[in-house]
Amino acid sequence: MADITAADHLPDHYGRLQVSPVASQPVIDAAYQTLLRTTRGERLERLRESYAVLRDADARRAYDNRRNCLGGKVVGDYEVIEKIGEGQFGQTYRGIHILTGTPVCIKHIPDASAETREDLLHESKVLARINHHRLPGWYNTIQLDDGTVALIMKYLPYPSLAKIVATDGPRTALDTVRIIERVMNLLMYLHGEKGVIHGAINPDHILVEYKNAGWIDAYLVSFGLGVLEPGGVSRDFVKYYSPQEQVDGGAMLPESDLYSVAKTAIFALTGSIEAVMINQFPEDTPEPMRRFFDALLIEDVYDRHDWDSGALMERFTAARVASGLAPVYSAE
Ligand SMILES: Nc1ncnc2c1ncn2[C@@H]1O[C@H](COP(=O)(O)OP(=O)(O)OP(=O)(O)O)[C@@H](O)[C@H]1O
Ligand SMILES: [Mg+2]
Repeated sequence: MADITAADHLPDHYGRLQVSPVASQPVIDAAYQTLLRTTRGERLERLRESYAVLRDADARRAYDNRRNCLGGKVVGDYEVIEKIGEGQFGQTYRGIHILTGTPVCIKHIPDASAETREDLLHESKVLARINHHRLPGWYNTIQLDDGTVALIMKYLPYPSLAKIVATDGPRTALDTVRIIERVMNLLMYLHGEKGVIHGAINPDHILVEYKNAGWIDAYLVSFGLGVLEPGGVSRDFVKYYSPQEQVDGGAMLPESDLYSVAKTAIFALTGSIEAVMINQFPEDTPEPMRRFFDALLIEDVYDRHDWDSGALMERFTAARVASGLAPVYSAE
C-alpha cells in the first residue's frame, strides 16, 4: 500500500492504519491497537505518527483538508489553478475549462458527509435559478471519486469589498452609496424576479469593480445560505451581518437581506466590526443616508423598511440627493 497520497505527497495516515478515510474514531483506535502488536522498527514510528494525527479531531480535520485539497488537480473538464478563498468548511479556487481556457470558479468542501454534499447541491440549485451578468452563473456540479462534490461557476475577477477595505481603508460616503446602489439593484432582481433571498450579504461576498469615470460595479457571490422562496429558512447565518430572524432560524424575507446591506454599509464606511455590531456610522455620514440605513436596521423584521414596490429605491435616491451624493448618470 502506498505510504504517501499520490497527489499531495502527504503521508498516507489512513493507509498506514489500514482504515478508510471516513472511518470513525473507535475503528481507528481499534486498528491502531491491533497493528501495534505486529509492527516494529521504522514502520512502528510511522504508525505512531499517523495515529497521533488521526486521534486528534482538529489535526485530523486539518490533514483531511490538505489531503482532499484540489490544488493542481483536474476536476471533470476543469483544471484547478489557485486557491482564492478558504472558509470554515471549504475552499474556493480559480480554475479553467481545459478545452476552451475559460476561467471558472470552483467551490469544494473536502468532506463527504451527506450534510456537506447537500450544502453544495443546495448552492448549485440556487445558482441554477438565477441568470444575471453580475452574479455567478452555474456551470456544473461534479461528483468526485472520494464522494465529495465540486461546484463550478462563472468566475468574477474582482476583489471583495472586505479585501479593498483591508488594503485601501474605509470607503467614502460617495463610494459606499455607489456600491450599495449596485447591490440593491441586484437584490431587486433576486427578490423581485426570482424570489431568491441571498442570506449571506457581507463584505466578503460583494466583489467590486472600479471602472472609468467614477463608475463602480458590484457583484454578489456565495449563495450557500440562499433561500429559494421568501418565508423559507436559511441553512445558517453570518455573525454580525445576519438579522435576528435568521439567527433564530425563522422565516427569511427580502428585508432580511436589506438588514445585511445596511450592516455592510457601516463596514464599508468604518472598516470596523465593532462599529457594525453597534450600528455606529462615522460622525460625518450625511444625516439623510444614515436615516435611510437606520430604517433597514430595525430589529423587528415586520417594522423594518421593505421594498414597498420600488419606493425604497426612490427613497434611497432622495437620500443621496439630500446628502449631496446624487448619482451622476452622465459620468456613470
Ligand atoms: N464566482 C466567483 N468568482 C470570483 N470569486 C469568487 C466567486 N465566488 C466566491 N469567490 C471568492 O471566494 C471567496 C470564498 O467563497 P465563498 O464565500 O462562496 O466560500 P466560503 O466563504 O468558503 O463559504 P461560505 O461563505 O458559504 O461559508 C469569496 O469571499 C469571494 O472572494
Ligand atoms: Mg464566504
